[in-house]
Amino acid sequence: MAESAELILDGKSISLPVIEGTENEKAFDIGKLRDQTGYVTLDSGYKNTGATKSAITFLDGEEGILRYRGYPIDQLAEKSNFLEVAYLLIYGSLPTQTELDTFAHQITNHTLVHEDVRKIFDGFPSTAHPMGILSSLICSLTAFYPKSLDPNQSPEETNLNIFRLIAKISTIAAWSYKNSVGHPLNYPRNDLDYCSNFLYMMFAFPTEKYEINPVVVSALNKLLILHADHEQNCSTSTVRLVGSANASLYGSVSAGVNALWGPLHGGANQEVMEMLEAIQQDGGNTQKWVDKAKDKDDSFRLMGFGHRVYKNFDPRAKIIKKAADDVLKALGIDDPLLKIAQELEQAALTDPYFVERKLYPNVDFYSGIIYRAIGIPTEMFTVLFAMGRLPGWIAQWKEMRENKEPIGRPRQIYTGELERDYVGIEQR
Ligand code: SDX
Repeated sequence: MAESAELILDGKSISLPVIEGTENEKAFDIGKLRDQTGYVTLDSGYKNTGATKSAITFLDGEEGILRYRGYPIDQLAEKSNFLEVAYLLIYGSLPTQTELDTFAHQITNHTLVHEDVRKIFDGFPSTAHPMGILSSLICSLTAFYPKSLDPNQSPEETNLNIFRLIAKISTIAAWSYKNSVGHPLNYPRNDLDYCSNFLYMMFAFPTEKYEINPVVVSALNKLLILHADHEQNCSTSTVRLVGSANASLYGSVSAGVNALWGPLHGGANQEVMEMLEAIQQDGGNTQKWVDKAKDKDDSFRLMGFGHRVYKNFDPRAKIIKKAADDVLKALGIDDPLLKIAQELEQAALTDPYFVERKLYPNVDFYSGIIYRAIGIPTEMFTVLFAMGRLPGWIAQWKEMRENKEPIGRPRQIYTGELERDYVGIEQR
């Protein structure tokens, strides 16, 4: 491999060191470019720019590979559970039984939120989108745990904030749903595992006994695992950038929740379900909607299709598609939207527009089918994505801090007005 790249600029030759990762990914290190040449690079959307070096997640968009700390996503989805994967992402190795039990115990015992957090819920109208509630209440945790604001906090304090956040996101998420339907809140139970406790808080109702369904618990574990990290995506980059200013974990993750909410990012899972429902109401003519997605004069995009990195099948979409079939069969559900999704996928995968642009179903295309089957309302889909992605956000924030990375501050190319003098309003 070349040790460096030569850049010839204005007759001068600049040597850019080449670095290579453990999976043979290569980069030019341009850390001294501006000092040496006065030039910066420009890369709208950071499509060709590496923001950091990371040991957490590896993905290969061409080959459709995704591994958390080296473990293939299909093995983790099949054999692991969400808290074990969270431990793996955050601490770097699969836990022993004792480590996992301690981690799970810590999280279980932090699921309760301060009663004043519950009072904040009372201020939200029932129409409030749960993602807005989630980002607000996660940030509000800085008020209840002010030590989390200290950038020089001890590792023990950081771990405590990590336990609190993973624990309380499930309570806040379930309560945001209950708030939207005017149901009484269910307080967390310490006798239930993480996913069972979340489902209990979401769906238990005072007038009837809530039965934990193992098929639903298993499906939720799988979905949370599949969403747990995805290297430097939009929301993770947001968490890192905010965290690089020494902002607290809670403040950084709150910003990540808002980035994920965007319909081009995590918000796509809600958009996919609304798209499938619109196609169903429109008579189910999938080709008509594929044609709309191709029409440059039509702003409609085939939600759940395409990806910045995957130019092959998103490995998570393959697993979720099979899980959707399995869950619907196990629950005895015949969801017409699954058939529409399958027809849409087939129509797109054989259409030159999508084939030429390498647009395949992504993680969001089939996930909503499972969420719907297990009773999660559409407006909560992106909240479930955030719950899944939280360990990844935490792991990336922690890595950035431990590596003492500098505050993120990109440059620009100015294209505005040249210097001009102020004129009074009477002269304008
Ligand atoms: C996630 O980064 C991550 O890892 C994200 C994520 C994670 O786990 O964190 O994987 C989660 O965000 C998945 C993506 C969910 N978003 C959607 O499903 C929304 C629909 N998809 C797109 O909007 C789009 O594909 C993106 C945003 C996902 C990617 O956009 P890019 O890489 O910026 O590509 P682009 O917009 O430049 O599109 C390239 C071409 C364009 O056509 P041309 O200009 O070449 O003619 O493909 C077209 C686009 O118009 N195109 C689509 C399309 N996606 C891209 N056309 C129709 N339908 C689509 N869905």
